[in-house]
Amino acid sequence: MNEVRDDFLDSLDLDDSEIIPFIPEILKNLWGLGSMPEYVIHLVEKHIPSNKLKRIIDLGCGKGSVLIQLSEKIKFEGIGIDLMSEFIDEAKRYASRHSYSENLKFEVGDIKKMVEHYCDFDLVIYAHDSDIFGNVTQSLCELEKYMLDQSWIVFEGLYNINQLNNPENLPNKEEFHLQLEKSGFEVINQIVWDKDELRKTNQTNTKLIRDRITHLIQSHPDKEKLFNTYLENQIEECQELEENIECLTLLLKRKRNTTMAKNT
Ligand SMILES: C[S@@+](CC[C@H](N)C(=O)[O-])C[C@H]1O[C@@H](n2cnc3c(N)ncnc32)[C@H](O)[C@@H]1O
Repeated sequence: MNEVRDDFLDSLDLDDSEIIPFIPEILKNLWGLGSMPEYVIHLVEKHIPSNKLKRIIDLGCGKGSVLIQLSEKIKFEGIGIDLMSEFIDEAKRYASRHSYSENLKFEVGDIKKMVEHYCDFDLVIYAHDSDIFGNVTQSLCELEKYMLDQSWIVFEGLYNINQLNNPENLPNKEEFHLQLEKSGFEVINQIVWDKDELRKTNQTNTKLIRDRITHLIQSHPDKEKLFNTYLENQIEECQELEENIECLTLLLKRKRNTTMAKNT
């Protein structure tokens, strides 16, 4: 990775690019990096006939936890793309330990620059955790380039639910749905993330991160402040997600006979 863009830092909630070389080590004991695979699986199994799902792409796949768990339920050819080569190496390792993952490929790449190499997917999976592709409408417009004509998107999105506390300037629920509406996609179904489940996942992940940080401080005492600041930020991010934000997983399909509203 040559230049580090803000959208990449945002996607992993990083404030300081100096922490990047340590991220694989800090997140070593986590498989999932923020998505809720069980919600993706539920929506896909419930609404998409399995014979319609031949090719699936996960953009920003991390260590492949969504694609690999989906492949345990449905047979398809899948590609996961992520900018961090260490995550892709891990995804390949996890896939090799799962019996149904032989049809999955994981590749290092920038999803902003990959669309000319990858298209015609039946399902595109994307978590809108940064402005890589812009707002909701703009992101869906970009994601559509990866799709076949009548195919689906699993979109993980979020909106603010506390107007007195919105440091990341997220849209509120109404604005979020307006942006969706403008995209020309219809919501087939959606799952609002369960707060208790989110809290439990966050607690587990924070413990795993804290353990790695303790270890890293011993081997790199000069970076203690950097590591502790990262941990504090992660705890704040979790609190923010639990208190001021609603996360949701949506299954979307292109409305018939509509034209995508570009750059709105
Ligand atoms: C919050 S993580 C989610 C990963 C995965 N969905 C999961 O839950 O395990 C976001 C991922 O997006 C990746 N990412 C950010 N910018 C990217 C880009 N421009 N191209 C490819 N991957 C990118 C990051 O490396 C990170 O693994």
